Amino acid sequence: MFYDPRSEPHGLAHNPWTALVVPRPIGWVSTLSDSGDANLAPYSFFNAVSGNPPFVMFSSAGRKDTQRNAETTGEFVVNMATAELMGAMNASSAVLGPEVDEFSLAGLEKAQCHNVSAPRVSASPVAIECVLNQVVTMTTRNGTRAASQVIIGEVVGIHIADEVIVDGVLDIRKMRPLSRLGYMDYSVIDEVFAMDRPS
Ligand SMILES: Cc1cc2nc3c(=O)[nH]c(=O)nc-3n(C[C@H](O)[C@H](O)[C@H](O)COP(=O)(O)O)c2cc1C
Repeated sequence: MFYDPRSEPHGLAHNPWTALVVPRPIGWVSTLSDSGDANLAPYSFFNAVSGNPPFVMFSSAGRKDTQRNAETTGEFVVNMATAELMGAMNASSAVLGPEVDEFSLAGLEKAQCHNVSAPRVSASPVAIECVLNQVVTMTTRNGTRAASQVIIGEVVGIHIADEVIVDGVLDIRKMRPLSRLGYMDYSVIDEVFAMDRPS
């Protein structure tokens, strides 16, 4: 099949788009509002977009609390969502007022960050402290449809739990990161193989 999403219906029972580029890592983003309220929400249009120096991005469909806080305070933290934390991650995606602390709602403890004021998820094995770099609005070429906004962050601190470092490398089987597939589907990464590059 082929369809042009600008003008043609896909003709399937459900929109296939989010099932096509998979798996997507889940950026579980914690922020503080200008009045100091903690906020936590998952974003699966998320990725690392540069290695050295490291940068990350997530995209917000509308100016949600996370984006507003990131813009207001100039910082955010990306926590890794793991298989163990899937229930809490899902609970934190509820649409709630900016004054609601999703850490409390999801029964999560906060831990302090080093270089930003926003808290991180204590139980998450990886947390990435970021300062806001830029916000990019994606608009269609003919300018008629404004899509999501991409929030880009420069990484200024990285927490890794000692328990997931084995012989100097991160052990993915211990971390068991959760990733987003299409529809309401998820997967857990717990199988790994290595492949050398051609010389
Ligand atoms: C696994 C998962 C991934 C999500 N990814 C996104 C995303 O990439 N962009 C987005 O705008 N919303 C996404 N959402 C929805 C937000 O988490 C939800 O709208 C949330 O209430 C936003 O919270 P906030 O207003 O505190 O930022 C996702 C939800 C789930 C459960």
